[in-house]
Amino acid sequence: MLRSKKTGADAPLASGRRLLALGGAMADLAQAAVPGAVVEEAGLDRLAAARTTHCDLVLIDADAWEAPALAQALQSLAAAPAAPAVLLAGERLPTTVVRNLLRLERSDVLEAPFSTEQAVQAIAGLLAVAAAPAAAPSAVSSRCWAVTGAVGGAGATTLAVEMATALAARSGKDKGVCLIDLNLADGAAAAYLGAQPAMRLSEMGVAADRIDASMLQAFVTPVSKQLDVLAGLREPGAFDAIGRDAVLRMLEVACDCYEWVILDMPRHRRSWTLEALSGCDEILVVSELTVPALLAARSLADEIEESLGTDQKPRIVLNRLASRMFGPAPSMSEAERALGRKADAGVSSDWEAAAASVNLGGPIAQHRPKSKIVKDVQALVERLAAEPSRKDVHGARRAA
Ligand SMILES: Nc1ncnc2c1ncn2[C@@H]1O[C@H](COP(=O)(O)OP(=O)(O)OP(=O)(O)O)[C@@H](O)[C@H]1O
Ligand SMILES: [Mg+2]
Repeated sequence: MLRSKKTGADAPLASGRRLLALGGAMADLAQAAVPGAVVEEAGLDRLAAARTTHCDLVLIDADAWEAPALAQALQSLAAAPAAPAVLLAGERLPTTVVRNLLRLERSDVLEAPFSTEQAVQAIAGLLAVAAAPAAAPSAVSSRCWAVTGAVGGAGATTLAVEMATALAARSGKDKGVCLIDLNLADGAAAAYLGAQPAMRLSEMGVAADRIDASMLQAFVTPVSKQLDVLAGLREPGAFDAIGRDAVLRMLEVACDCYEWVILDMPRHRRSWTLEALSGCDEILVVSELTVPALLAARSLADEIEESLGTDQKPRIVLNRLASRMFGPAPSMSEAERALGRKADAGVSSDWEAAAASVNLGGPIAQHRPKSKIVKDVQALVERLAAEPSRKDVHGARRAA
């Protein structure tokens, strides 16, 4: 249904605008707020197909539709090219709906009750930024470290979680650190932290070029004021569903938004693995003190070095070092012979502390702050953080 009403030349917004109103109350609001606009009243089924070529703005009455259906329609709209701006108004603004709304390039929310003035302002704001580029996130000089296991169960996730926690405490900055679990199908980082992701990461993989700071924020789960984790719900097909461009774009945006980014890398190489590693300041290969793990760590470190060049030598971290091993174990010098290089750091074994962390949900630093694991990780973090970032090194080389 199309409605148009002229109410004089002193209208606050230019006439001739095309507004799509979902919910009868929105049609009335659109006409009151934008006199002279062409207002089309429609049902929710119109939303996913709305394009800037047909309308400048969509107004949605959040109370008029069931939340799952509305969230789904917004998600389809966000994945489509040339999606118009959307203003969502109502008393009930469910998180799933707002999260999908945030994926749009231009959107706003009006919580009822609101005045016509407030509606006019929100609408004017959305129409005014129609052609303006998205605001750049508050770019910081970000540092990114990747952690990968030489063999399954070596402790990569444990160390990534503890390193992210140590960095968050060290930085003290709100939203200073993001831990990204790139084990897209069944990563454990969120569970280790006692956090519950709400989204499937494949929902982000639909349109790589639309991933921006606000979309990233819709996907992260806050762990503390300083630390966020970016991980998805368990999703067996996620590695196929999330394309290379989406993963790399997600990392790029995360590095624009956070001071520190820690990657929990999958052990098996993906189409995006080397590119992701090439953007990192540090690559940590986690091994345990067994012969197969040490040999695997050597091969993995060699492969990475050969692919990326000696500029990015991975560091070997030996995990679960015990003062007394059960059965014959390589000595440190035997271990370094098997590795073909020196180990860069060691982390003590403390099964009780590690089990308390995973079973209670939360880092070891929270549940067993006196554990040797926490001390060893802190020492490692301090040492690595004191190194110049790769950007500084490259900058200095270019200047020389
Ligand atoms: N230093 C440590 N001392 C004792 N237990 C540890 C230590 N580090 C890790 N663990 C335990 O070892 C197990 C495997 O650790 P984790 O899940 O971090 O390994 P991973 O390399 O990420 O494994 P995956 O290959 O499945 O990703 C977990 O139960 C963890 O609590
Ligand atoms: Mg893991």
